[in-house]
Amino acid sequence: MEPLLKVNGLKKHFPIKKGLLQRQTGAVKAVDGLDFEVYPGETLGVVGESGCGKSTMGRLITRLLEPTDGTVEFQGTDISHLGVSGMRPLRRDIQMIFQDPYGSLNPRHTVGTIVSAPFKLQGVEPEGGVKKEVQRLLGLVGLNPEHYNRYPHEFSGGQRQRIGIARALALKPKLVVADEPVSALDVSIQAQVVNLLDDLQQELGLTYVIIAHDLSVIRHVSDRIAVMYLGKIVELADRKSLYESPMHPYTRALMSAVPIPDPRRRGAKSDRILLKGDVPSPIAPPPGCRFHTRCWKATDLCKTQEPPLLELRPGQRVACHHPENAEGVTIPAARESVDVTITKAPQPTEPKPEPSKPEAAEPAEAEAPTPAEPEAAAEGDAPKE
Ligand SMILES: Nc1ncnc2c1ncn2[C@@H]1O[C@H](COP(=O)(O)OP(=O)(O)O)[C@@H](O)[C@H]1O
Ligand code: SF4
Ligand SMILES: [Mg+2]
Repeated sequence: MEPLLKVNGLKKHFPIKKGLLQRQTGAVKAVDGLDFEVYPGETLGVVGESGCGKSTMGRLITRLLEPTDGTVEFQGTDISHLGVSGMRPLRRDIQMIFQDPYGSLNPRHTVGTIVSAPFKLQGVEPEGGVKKEVQRLLGLVGLNPEHYNRYPHEFSGGQRQRIGIARALALKPKLVVADEPVSALDVSIQAQVVNLLDDLQQELGLTYVIIAHDLSVIRHVSDRIAVMYLGKIVELADRKSLYESPMHPYTRALMSAVPIPDPRRRGAKSDRILLKGDVPSPIAPPPGCRFHTRCWKATDLCKTQEPPLLELRPGQRVACHHPENAEGVTIPAARESVDVTITKAPQPTEPKPEPSKPEAAEPAEAEAPTPAEPEAAAEGDAPKE
């Protein structure tokens, strides 16, 4: 099957400029070389701590941002550097749902105006008229079609996110990128909204990229999951492999932070891995493996040589010199040099309370408040024509 979306070597470096002359003194390497593909009808979950580049990735693949390097192909067409008019027809096919249901809806517009905006922008006249179509969409996302003339402040957070979903689905997109679609909502309604997305996918044959800062929300709906760390993908696997035998130490740490719903295991000794320290700055990421400053398995090799993302098991790509759950897996160490067959992990896999051990930092911290997502930020960084 041909992928709907294919990303190769994707990078976004935000320049840091200083002084009167605004000379570039460095760059925030927000996204620093991503390779992945998304197949029609699937849900790719993308997880990682706050600041690891998830939103930037989302904005690159929806082309709200232009990449510094690498390519984004949608249905076989390279869209990496398309201008505003080149992207216009594709805006129907690629939609984004934002994290903040408060900031992403214009408070002065009625729900009807908000959800009908995509028709106006694209000059599309749905059969039966815009109003009828908007009311159908409101019903589809579980809102009362009669609420067409109400304003966003009259709705709860969960309902507002449904309005955002209705707007994203208005033009029957092929790809929907949802950037932390439920993290601003009460835990009690997070599942409802995620389930709504799931139902809509079945009904409308949608393809999703769903971004989250931890695994708890997206674990049930993702077919495959990409784990990001400091602008890179460290592991990409189908859900089952990732849950049953994560191979990257960082994935293991993230997974250990997900509460276990099984009541039989409640009260069982927690094997939670607490990562020490903070995520390093994406302005100067650590050399070698970017995770080595926090990894309990780091060796000298890790400090100097960056592990490439390799398919270590069918459907499971991992970037690590000393992967977990790797008994019997052949790791083409440093590609050119001799292959090493791992029979035993080089260091104990169970983190012991050693001095060099992870201490008290949470692996998946709460998301820092993000500024409101501007409704019309669309071509903000796109090239002018
Ligand atoms: N427009 C921008 N200019 C400069 N730096 C940015 C910009 N957008 C994001 N960043 C930086 O890029 C890094 C990744 O940010 P982001 O993609 O928002 O991460 P996430 O969504 O995973 O929290 C962060 O260090 C952030 O401060
Ligand atoms: S390459 Fe080394 S430092 Fe990086 S995750 Fe693997 S073991 Fe840890
Ligand atoms: Mg984000």
